[in-house]
Amino acid sequence: MSEHVRVVEVGPRDGLQNEKTPVSVATKTGLIGRLVEAGLRTIEVGSFVSPKRVPQMADTDAIVRQLPKDDGVAYQVLVPNEQGMVAALDAGAREIAVFASASQTFSHKNINCSIAESIDRFRPVAEMAKANDVKVRGYVSCVLGCPYEGEVSTEAVVSVSRMLSDLGCYEISLGDTIGIGTPRQARSVVRAVAGEIDIGRLALHFHDTRGQALANILACLEDGIVVVDSAVAGLGGCPYAPGASGNVATEDLVFMLQGMGVETGIDLDKAIAAGNFIAAALGKPSGSKVAQSTAGA
Ligand code: HMG
Ligand code: MG
Repeated sequence: MSEHVRVVEVGPRDGLQNEKTPVSVATKTGLIGRLVEAGLRTIEVGSFVSPKRVPQMADTDAIVRQLPKDDGVAYQVLVPNEQGMVAALDAGAREIAVFASASQTFSHKNINCSIAESIDRFRPVAEMAKANDVKVRGYVSCVLGCPYEGEVSTEAVVSVSRMLSDLGCYEISLGDTIGIGTPRQARSVVRAVAGEIDIGRLALHFHDTRGQALANILACLEDGIVVVDSAVAGLGGCPYAPGASGNVATEDLVFMLQGMGVETGIDLDKAIAAGNFIAAALGKPSGSKVAQSTAGA
């Protein structure tokens, strides 16, 4: 297992996109500032998607414009098509993520096109990114199962990962969108993708719907994974993945890694404070077990 893991914080985007309570720009930038303070160096801050589809992300433009420049933090935004890319560049985004699915039905429900069409939409986005020196990350959803189709073939996961890599994505994040996988399956799918793409360029993005995320992450860390996505307070969910709940909590992930002597550069107490800040703003308890254990302590 690597002695260092890079944690990608997706709380301000994945964590909030499905929240019905409107969260102000000030609260979102307050959260992002606390995450930076906690030591997070890659933070997904929003999405340039249709505001009718995901109203909570409608203010991403204002957020990106307020972010500090050149502070050594990679602030990332989701971009689904050229229209989103034009807006992202205009706001000053320096890093984007395109998102595809290994399940055809989920692709249609989420972004209203087939897998092949989504890759075609990403092509001009990737070209614009290259021309503007913007880094591109790629997501594959439903790698361990689909809310509509059930089982998803490993071949589909490998094939979509390869297509995103060929487009120029520097890293491929493998999403267990509905938190349905278990450790041997997670390891087996990651191994299959790692047969084609260097494992150092793969990330895990595991939702914790059934409480399996940390176990699945550990299984893959033991195989050499070095990048893991998470969200403070265990927030998260996708509007087009019914029943899917939050991401693995950053606090719980960091607690596990620290306990194993794996370096993350993250201050656990400050990560807990960031998670508690956003949970309070949403008026609900933190979904992080570690944060719960320290509450009132
Ligand atoms: P479309 O549905 O194909 O529609 O959009 P369109 O291209 O025909 O346009 C329809 C309307 O959307 C038009 O506006 C466009 O201007 C507008 P109208 O004329 O009706 O007023 N539009 C846009 N507006 C803002 N930004 C844009 C944009 N593009 C079109 N970029 C689209 C396709 C992808 C935009 C749409 O289906 C959409 O926004 N879907 C939501 C996708 C989303 O955000 N999903 C959640 C994030 S993915 C996720 O959570 C999974 C992940 O976490 C990994 C995992 O867990 O597995 C990443
Ligand atoms: Mg997600």
